[in-house]
Amino acid sequence: MDNPEDNSSKSLPHGEIVMRTIAMPSDSNGNGDIFGGWLMSQMDIGGAVLARSIARGRVATVAADSMSFVSPVAVGDVVTCYARLVSIGRSSMKIDIDAWVQRFKTNELRRVTEGVFTYVAIDENGRPRPVPDQKQG
Ligand SMILES: CC(C)(COP(=O)(O)OP(=O)(O)OC[C@H]1O[C@@H](n2cnc3c(N)ncnc32)[C@H](O)[C@@H]1OP(=O)(O)O)[C@@H](O)C(=O)NCCC(=O)NCCS
Repeated sequence: MDNPEDNSSKSLPHGEIVMRTIAMPSDSNGNGDIFGGWLMSQMDIGGAVLARSIARGRVATVAADSMSFVSPVAVGDVVTCYARLVSIGRSSMKIDIDAWVQRFKTNELRRVTEGVFTYVAIDENGRPRPVPDQKQG
């Protein structure tokens, strides 16, 4: 079984910073740990920041795969999401998103979550549209 504190395969954040926030008490359960759903939503928003810039417009999330919660987030931790484009289809984009925290009490950096989100470029009617050619400015 994986050691949840083992970050050896990803010892440094990679990708661009797309979201940074502080985990608040309202995002936590009774133990003071942050809800996984809150973290996923920060990752989704962060991934959408990158997807929108690639798609040059509106996008919708269609899938969140390979979610792993590797370490808990605590109230007061600074949460940073890093996103990296994995692949582009006709209308879809797969984006790898890692969330890291800087611990409130110790300043220690730790990877807490990773996942691959799929976004689809959509038009004004909410229907898929082709992702623009990335070579053209
Ligand atoms: C996004 C949406 C318009 C796509 O419509 P659709 O009828 O599935 O369109 P298509 O079948 O043509 O698929 C479009 C692309 O999405 C991809 N796709 C669709 N469902 C997918 C899934 N579950 N996982 C990965 N990719 C998926 C397809 O492979 C296709 O990729 P490509 O164009 O790069 O080849 C529609 O699924 C939708 O509105 N979903 C709800 C989105 C939403 O509300 N998100 C917020 C959730 S709270």
